[in-house]
Amino acid sequence: MKVLVIGSGGREHTLVWKIAQSKKVKKIYCAPGNGGIKEIAELVNVKADDIDGLLNFAKNKKIDLTLVGSETPLVHGIVDRFIKEGLNIFGPSKDLAMLEGSKVFSKETMKRFNVPTADFKVFDQPDEARAYLKRIGVPIVIKADGLAAGKGVIVAQTIEEATKAIDSILVDKVFGASGEKIILEDCLEGEEASILVFTDGKTIVPLVSSQDHKRIFDNDKGPNTGGMGAYSPAPVVSGDIFDDIIEKVFRPIINGLAGEGKFYKGVLYGGIMITKDGPMALEFNVRFGDPETQAILPRLKSDLVDALTACIDGTLDKINLEWDQRPCLCVVCASRGYPGTYERHKEIQGLELVKEMKDAAVFHAGTICENGKIFTSGGRVLGVIGFGNDIRLAKDKAYQAVSKIDFEGIYYRRDIGDRAIKIRRI
Ligand code: AMP
Ligand code: GLY
Repeated sequence: MKVLVIGSGGREHTLVWKIAQSKKVKKIYCAPGNGGIKEIAELVNVKADDIDGLLNFAKNKKIDLTLVGSETPLVHGIVDRFIKEGLNIFGPSKDLAMLEGSKVFSKETMKRFNVPTADFKVFDQPDEARAYLKRIGVPIVIKADGLAAGKGVIVAQTIEEATKAIDSILVDKVFGASGEKIILEDCLEGEEASILVFTDGKTIVPLVSSQDHKRIFDNDKGPNTGGMGAYSPAPVVSGDIFDDIIEKVFRPIINGLAGEGKFYKGVLYGGIMITKDGPMALEFNVRFGDPETQAILPRLKSDLVDALTACIDGTLDKINLEWDQRPCLCVVCASRGYPGTYERHKEIQGLELVKEMKDAAVFHAGTICENGKIFTSGGRVLGVIGFGNDIRLAKDKAYQAVSKIDFEGIYYRRDIGDRAIKIRRI
């Protein structure tokens, strides 16, 4: 098989690394890829949002399976375009990618199928939104409807903050067309977990649970980022809660859509808040999570390509996933300045030393390879993973690996996994 992976982050490196382990796969391409992916796949100089370019490449090379990393090509209909040309591609069609592409569509779908989620109202007029805010009070969550590069959600603790968020989206149009509508939503309290499932539109095969660390600083302080680390499993999602999430969140969505003749194929990622009243869905993503994938997929013992293909073919009922029972923890190393303006083109040292380690690995995100040397090129640079017999040992292993790596201005959180370690102690 010839496989094409689209994207250039740590998630895509992990996907390429896992796909490379499949005996069925003879050749992997990655568009556009990064310095680490280059070691195991042929890089293709086509951008992830250039659907015409990707389609031409896949047709010319007779690609057997295409896998999309980020949401943007999915929301822009890459799956429909590939299918029309008779090409196999993993992911939902454009209308169902709206589960991530439009928060209004997503919340209305949840409501239609009785998925537990925070109460909400949709607005396109700022004065009506402000009046509702005055009535409901704070804390409140304000969400831009469309894609906003992870910046479209504001959890406001004061009326001033909430008013500013409403005005910046609906009046100043900071997110452009993505902010034509907003959601005002009750603020939920609890601990968050990321639950991903494979589905062919009928059968659901869950992946193992995980948890992200969104804030830049230790103890979840500072601005939001794309994710500074992750671990799998998430102990907050104990056995009963996990089953509850599958039955109350995923089953109603997948079955409900199927009842309307819409079959969601691909991976569906639920951001779940574990509240005192049970799990509630915060949002859906229509792709693998990053960095969650870097902590999840190294635990997968089964052939990933079989599972991907079964989602497309509608034969997921034949698939059983086997997992390494040991926890895996991922620490993201970022460039100085991230998530604001960050430094680039710093040479990375020590990657070879991690290759010699057992139960540790490095996935590249913002890197490039020049003359055999690896340089930083993005905000999130590397995801460094470690395995251990418990979460504390996985943390120790990951940070041992991190200590071998260096580049000017390297920044990482020191507390990845601490919440899980605390839960285990209790
Ligand atoms: P989303 O893009 O919808 O996942 O939102 C990003 C982040 O905002 C989530 O990971 C939560 O931390 C937070 N968030 C979203 N909705 C809510 C809510 N209803 N209550 C509390 N926090 C929320
Ligand atoms: N880690 C959050 C995301 O992938 O959306």
